[in-house]
Amino acid sequence: MNIEAGELIFFTRGNPAEEALPLLEIIDCANAVFQNEGKVLFQYGHYSGYTPLREWIAERFNVKIDQVLIGNSSMEFLTFIGALMVNKGDTVYLEYPSYDRAITAMKRIGANVVGIPLELDGVNIERLKKELKSSVPRLFYIIPDFQNPSGVTTSLEKRKEIAHLAQQYGFLVIEDGPYRYLRYRGEDIPTLKELIPDKVIHISSFSKILSPGLRIGFLMGPADLMPKFHKWSEDTYIHPALPTEGIAYEYCRRGLLDPNIERLKTLYRPRMEAMLEALDRNLKGAEWGKPDGGFFISITLPHNIDGKAVRENAKNFGIVLTDGRGFFPDWSGENFVRLPFCALTPGEIEEGIKRLTKAIECHKK
Ligand SMILES: Cc1ncc(COP(=O)(O)O)c(C=O)c1O
Repeated sequence: MNIEAGELIFFTRGNPAEEALPLLEIIDCANAVFQNEGKVLFQYGHYSGYTPLREWIAERFNVKIDQVLIGNSSMEFLTFIGALMVNKGDTVYLEYPSYDRAITAMKRIGANVVGIPLELDGVNIERLKKELKSSVPRLFYIIPDFQNPSGVTTSLEKRKEIAHLAQQYGFLVIEDGPYRYLRYRGEDIPTLKELIPDKVIHISSFSKILSPGLRIGFLMGPADLMPKFHKWSEDTYIHPALPTEGIAYEYCRRGLLDPNIERLKTLYRPRMEAMLEALDRNLKGAEWGKPDGGFFISITLPHNIDGKAVRENAKNFGIVLTDGRGFFPDWSGENFVRLPFCALTPGEIEEGIKRLTKAIECHKK
């Protein structure tokens, strides 16, 4: 491992590693599918996405094809959901902290965004029950597997509690699962969609398991809610981009996706372990959960550390950090530091955590 002293180490967004992108296979799939299906892929298409890919997704997730909508990324679905399900002033719950862009999407609509504190095994259920007594939300946005930003996985017990409360109070759950397939240890836990299919819209994407540049997300929802999503898609952009869907379909049709997921796990698992070990060795007094998969570990710095100064001066220590406040709807989280590990080598992780430790030590209040 060779890291130049002046080279910055980026602990910023959750990008896949460059070496994670199966470029040669993608090029080969593009060549083949453009040759064979070019007349379909470069023409106007179906408003819900490329039919063979929808069929493939429907079969994989055991839903009807009408329940599958493909879009230009799962991020876009957050705006669809906001437009279709939430009115200005409606209450929306999400985990506290949560995915910063989801918070922004809901705030843009003027929703009353309520954060339910996240613990190491999912949201605090007592707090959720208490909030429900004062206001029932239009929806509860939740990332149950290897959450962004915390890395937390919601336990089966808590999933069942949330499912039960969604039935009891009649709110909709938006389950965002882009990291679910990247489990590095332990056993899969059933999705909320599997527990209460009638009350859950599940969104996911090919971004973390194949390529984010393709911009392909997919949404699976209860049959009665789907017509308005299909119509919204048509009225928004006629249909999502087809050529990249064709590539992804060819990739899946050839049976390459599951081996690629296994390859990614082999690449990312040691990175997660390297970060956990580096944190254990270097950082005293901060708190962090131990994820079982995904892209992120997050730490909360103790109160005697000036988190703002750590972030603002990070470059002087050779690292770049994301603003932790963005993950909290009330803009708290000054001392919250998200550490994506997938795009860094174990050597960079070790060095980066040493630099972070120095930055923290230098910013005691
Ligand atoms: C929880 C979560 N949802 C959605 C997205 C957006 O992914 P996509 O590339 O499919 O738009 C991300 C991206 O990092 C994410 O972490």
